Amino acid sequence: MGITMDFDWREAWHIRDSKRRERNGQEYWNNRAVDFVKKVERADYSQYSQIFLEFLALQPSDSVLDMGCGNGILTLPLARAGHDVIAADFSDAMLDALTRRVQDEKLANVSVKKLDWDEDWLAAGIQPKSVDVALASRSIMVRDLHDALEKLNMVARDRVCVTMATSLGPRSVSEIVEYIGRPIARIADFTYGFNMLIQMGYYPEVRYIDSYKRDRFDSFEQALDYFRENIEDLTSDEEKLLNEYLREHLHVNSKDSSLAMDYERLIRWAFIAWEPR
Ligand SMILES: C[S@@+](CC[C@H](N)C(=O)[O-])C[C@H]1O[C@@H](n2cnc3c(N)ncnc32)[C@H](O)[C@@H]1O
Repeated sequence: MGITMDFDWREAWHIRDSKRRERNGQEYWNNRAVDFVKKVERADYSQYSQIFLEFLALQPSDSVLDMGCGNGILTLPLARAGHDVIAADFSDAMLDALTRRVQDEKLANVSVKKLDWDEDWLAAGIQPKSVDVALASRSIMVRDLHDALEKLNMVARDRVCVTMATSLGPRSVSEIVEYIGRPIARIADFTYGFNMLIQMGYYPEVRYIDSYKRDRFDSFEQALDYFRENIEDLTSDEEKLLNEYLREHLHVNSKDSSLAMDYERLIRWAFIAWEPR
């Protein structure tokens, strides 16, 4: 069977997206904002942002749109380095957390903007070709991937850089997915993004950002909830296996009775960069 040039990646993304669990809305991200603030200090987050910034390789005068900026894991170092940044997100709580940091550090070059992937960006005041570089780090959570990529192309003059998952998602630990007997999905998000860009006539480069994370939890229930959330339609047999896996791999810290996994897992993101038209 051959793959034809007219394979419809946009429609394929729609079909895949419609099979996913309901997309997380503003409320979910507002609730996660506090957690995200703590994460800025975590080792796998600093590994990730360090490599992202290295791959981004900005010119000193480059201005940036950071779409889905969250609490500013990239906006803050970019602004400290002197870049003008439009930091955009649809979560008020994320933007509030970022605004506090921006004010504390007296960073005058950050413009914080409430913006949804799904809204009309021109109507929201985003000007065409208004920044040198547009980036979206781990934040492309959209029904229409083609439309999201076009929005980034519309804003950026020189370069667009995004990261997309190479696995089912950062929490879908392949070791666990395999243990409960599910097949591992090989067609990950970045495959759609990369192929769609080729079809749109761009020449995307792909590099990979690897970070390592040891999962830690306050309780066994919290661990169970964390992994359960990303495995869709868990059957009771699979739930038993998940329980068994976590009992075997979570170890109690005698000092504060928290739990930690007995290994560090690899989280690999695809960093995709291209020149917009
Ligand atoms: C996983 S976080 C990534 C944050 C940051 N860019 C990073 O790399 O750590 C995803 C971010 O995308 C934002 N987001 C999700 N859906 C969005 C949408 N439809 N419009 C705008 N932002 C969205 C969330 O509020 C959240 O801040």
